[in-house]
Amino acid sequence: MLKLGLIVGSTRPNRFAERAAAWLLEGAAERADFELEVLDLRDADLPFLDESIPPAMLGGNYSSPRANAWRHRVGAYDGYIATVAEYNHGPTAVLKNAFDSAFLEWQRKPIGFAGYGNVGAARAIEQLRGITVELQMAPIRHEVNIGLEPFIAVLNNDKTLNDYAYLIQARTALFDNLVWWACALKTARNKLRVVA
Ligand SMILES: Cc1cc2nc3c(=O)[nH]c(=O)nc-3n(C[C@H](O)[C@H](O)[C@H](O)COP(=O)(O)O)c2cc1C
Repeated sequence: MLKLGLIVGSTRPNRFAERAAAWLLEGAAERADFELEVLDLRDADLPFLDESIPPAMLGGNYSSPRANAWRHRVGAYDGYIATVAEYNHGPTAVLKNAFDSAFLEWQRKPIGFAGYGNVGAARAIEQLRGITVELQMAPIRHEVNIGLEPFIAVLNNDKTLNDYAYLIQARTALFDNLVWWACALKTARNKLRVVA
């Protein structure tokens, strides 16, 4: 069974991320082809990266015990979904820092994004695609974008995410495609020599 990690990508009190994460977990509970476990950045409590040498030159070792604990946790998964909040048209600082706080553990694994906000965090997700490619990840095309109308309706408790059929479809497509890439890349990681 594939093991996927759900990165909860914002940490402020009263975060919307909570609702997005719960809805993703609810959908994942209906699936027999993968398990989805929470990697909450609030719990990880990572320091902002302050290594004197870049991770690439350290062989992925960090001097911070919390960064090391994080990277070991991250390493246990075959792929990831991140909830994406958009702060000033980019990803949250904590999420970027979480990517910087592991190195080898991300490589050759897929990631999908579930964003929310005025434009479903599309601008932040585009930046995350570039960041994760640099970590030798495979960001998948399919994404969930909870745009302004559902975002506000859910925030005000007028509706739930399940009231939007197109969001459920997007979630299913994200899961299906993430599973495809996770299987393909897991097979390749197990069979093929790593190319530098
Ligand atoms: C610092 C900051 C910057 C924001 N910038 C944007 C933005 O550029 N685009 C957007 O759609 N929403 C923006 N918002 C509103 C967020 O979409 C909204 O607060 C959302 O709930 C944030 O996710 P979170 O609740 O998980 O932290 C911003 C919010 C904060 C706190």
